[in-house]
Amino acid sequence: MCGIVGYVGQDQAAPILLEGLAKLEYRGYDSAGVAVYDGTSIQVVKSKGRLKVLSDKIHGGADMTGNIGIGHTRWATHGKPSDVNAHPHVSESGKFAIVHNGVIENYLELKSDLLEKGCHFVSETDTEVVAQLLDYNYKGNLLEAVIKTLKKIRGSYAFGIICKDWPDRIIGVRKESPLIVGLGKGENFIASDIPAILSHTREIYRLQENEIAVIQADGVTVYNMDQEVIEKTPDHINWDISAAEKCGYEHFMAKEIMEQPKAVHDTISPRIKNGRIVLDNITLTKEQLENISRIMIVACGSAYHVGVVAKYVFERFTHIPVEVDVASEFRYRDPIIDEHVLVLVISQSGETADTLAALREAKRLGARTISIVNVVGSSIANESDDVLYTWAGPEIAVATTKAYSTQLAVIYLLAIYIAEKMGVISEADYQYYISELQSLPDKIAETLDSKAHVRAVAEQFYQKKDVFFIGRNIDYAMSLEGSLKLKEISYIHSEAYAAGELKHGTISLIENGTLVIALATQKRLFEKMMSNIKEVKARGATVLGVTTYSNQQIEKEAEYVFYIPEICDMMLPSLAVIPLQMFAYNIANLKGCDIDKPRNLAKSVTVE
Ligand code: M6R
Repeated sequence: MCGIVGYVGQDQAAPILLEGLAKLEYRGYDSAGVAVYDGTSIQVVKSKGRLKVLSDKIHGGADMTGNIGIGHTRWATHGKPSDVNAHPHVSESGKFAIVHNGVIENYLELKSDLLEKGCHFVSETDTEVVAQLLDYNYKGNLLEAVIKTLKKIRGSYAFGIICKDWPDRIIGVRKESPLIVGLGKGENFIASDIPAILSHTREIYRLQENEIAVIQADGVTVYNMDQEVIEKTPDHINWDISAAEKCGYEHFMAKEIMEQPKAVHDTISPRIKNGRIVLDNITLTKEQLENISRIMIVACGSAYHVGVVAKYVFERFTHIPVEVDVASEFRYRDPIIDEHVLVLVISQSGETADTLAALREAKRLGARTISIVNVVGSSIANESDDVLYTWAGPEIAVATTKAYSTQLAVIYLLAIYIAEKMGVISEADYQYYISELQSLPDKIAETLDSKAHVRAVAEQFYQKKDVFFIGRNIDYAMSLEGSLKLKEISYIHSEAYAAGELKHGTISLIENGTLVIALATQKRLFEKMMSNIKEVKARGATVLGVTTYSNQQIEKEAEYVFYIPEICDMMLPSLAVIPLQMFAYNIANLKGCDIDKPRNLAKSVTVE
């Protein structure tokens, strides 16, 4: 949600802010704005719509002078996308300008207090309240005003703040929303994410909860809420800069789909040493594992779909019962959790508000927690007992692909690792599954080779209005992800059903020409799936099957087929997802959709 960037140094701030915002636009893109101090006052320009509208308005930044500024790209929560609701928000006196990512939960209460005190508001946002409150609390000491304001607000935030009386500094502070400080030479930065500053510096501070950074051109000081200085150690970012660029691909999503063999290889290979799975970061002992009576998996969106696959995988390998829940439900349902429950939290960004809250709830109830996270140093990674990073590299497209695949890879590693620790897998099976796991990157690459065929099939179907995905067992789990991929980027209505469940109601929606995508990858369920395919065909459906090369009988019923290579059944989702991602991508492309920035969505959902 929302991207924040800030610059203080010797150069003109506005072009640097726009450049940074362009790298953060995936976080929100309904409006954008910048505030620059020009030596006399804080100048603010904001625009509804994509960043380009703002950039054109200020001629790439040339219209604004000043060496310090903050910028924002918005995903609306309070108040519709509009010029006036766009950030930065400025206090009535013009003294403070602020950009915000998060939600101020008690803003109505604070707003009515401020209204009584005579403040006037221009926007519908929660953020403007903070700008006004800062001004109200300001008595000449900036840090004190910030701390006093933070103590009054409830909710989640990353803020970038500038004050006319202190034209040499930006204040950056965060709680439950990410914010980093970029450390340059004679210049410093704040940003919601690393790509925004990567062309300027690779040294960063990761701000922790309620740390307040005072950022000046020649130095950065970080304080806690008691105004004590905190010693921070910079992290060095060693990404190749191309990791955050499109590198000739039309969209980030296309690039990220093609990066999957490498991402999965990078995630698996450092963890298999001398034929054994080594998970250094897992501190759970054999005894602790034996005391686990249940595994609870909590996540949102595609990460939840990984959780649905993981249920089958963990139950098969470890024989421990597994429950899966979407984080927004889990956190409010009084879950039955104690120290015998292992809670596994999955999140690409590591900042998803509901997943973070679920993790905290699980910890409060005494559970042991492990997170599977892609962003190093993110809140979920920091707060879980153990963390297993996916090494997918930065994922920019809103629709996840390589993060999903690397999450699945970690699930296999962890399930086999736990099974071996608990002594419930034979050595021969252990070796077999490790070699299957090691074959994954090459088989993903082989599956990607079918991209021309997938494109040709997409050309047949891109004008469909409704699509149904069906599958059994892990193919059902895959159907959920295939369906989400299609609908989120192409806006085609699609639903995923357990194949045996369709006839309990939904089959009434099947009519002549309805596209049904039938996942039938598992040998032992193939015949059952063929029956389900016949059922929908009998009602007029056109069927696109997804199966392995050894199940070519599917062609007796399915008009179109995506074939994937053979692999052990639990790992089939890692291959079956590939044509489904490419199919969704091509359909969206043929429809002319904005693939990397689908309407109404944002990459990292840091609000409830
Ligand atoms: O960062 P997270 O993995 O926690 O994000 C969870 C979901 O918001 C995310 O998977 C979302 O569903 C994607 N748009 C799916 O492509």
